[in-house]
Amino acid sequence: MDLNILGINGSLRKHSYNRMALQAARELMPPGMSLHITHYEDVPLFNQDDQEQGFPVAVVRLAGEIARADGVLIASPDYNHSVAGVLKNAIDWVSRIEPQPFVGKPVAMLSATMGPVGGARNQYELRKIIASIEGLCLVKPEVFIGRADTKFDSNGHLADEPTRRILGLQMHAFQQWILRLRPAG
Ligand SMILES: Cc1cc2nc3c(=O)[nH]c(=O)nc-3n(C[C@H](O)[C@H](O)[C@H](O)COP(=O)(O)O)c2cc1C
Repeated sequence: MDLNILGINGSLRKHSYNRMALQAARELMPPGMSLHITHYEDVPLFNQDDQEQGFPVAVVRLAGEIARADGVLIASPDYNHSVAGVLKNAIDWVSRIEPQPFVGKPVAMLSATMGPVGGARNQYELRKIIASIEGLCLVKPEVFIGRADTKFDSNGHLADEPTRRILGLQMHAFQQWILRLRPAG
């Protein structure tokens, strides 16, 4: 059976380059992997008082998707040199659920931005966050898609060959990472 990967986009924008990057990752996955890109626009702002009243349906759904996935692929832009607030908010909610679904979960990340740095700043922040909730991040290859407006065509297709190559290598490495972390048996 395929390794099922859950895609989470830190941008909620309709024409998001990070969504296009997730779709390109799906195309470039080796046989034996599949990707479902989730939606979490309905996750409310985290408030511990609200949590104590019970978890919102959207949070329970997202946590369930993470728990069932063999791996999580996060794509996200830099927002003001850091992690997009909506993504951090969703992770904060999910991190309160027991059993916490990121524990031991293989995670890979990529980022696309309009700026030249390609989201590296948010990725290093995100690595810290994922480590704090015991997710296991793939280290290499890293994928930073800078000047995203020059890398995708008008149909949202990733047209830049060097970027396609590195993204394909990352998907192969992610498959190996997941298999390596799998409990024996
Ligand atoms: C609030 C905000 C902050 C941003 N900060 C950065 C930034 O720090 N670095 C950067 O390269 N681009 C920044 N951008 C521009 C994003 O790279 C650009 O909007 C990109 O298209 C977002 O990704 P998306 O296409 O997946 O929505 C920012 C955009 C917004 C809306």
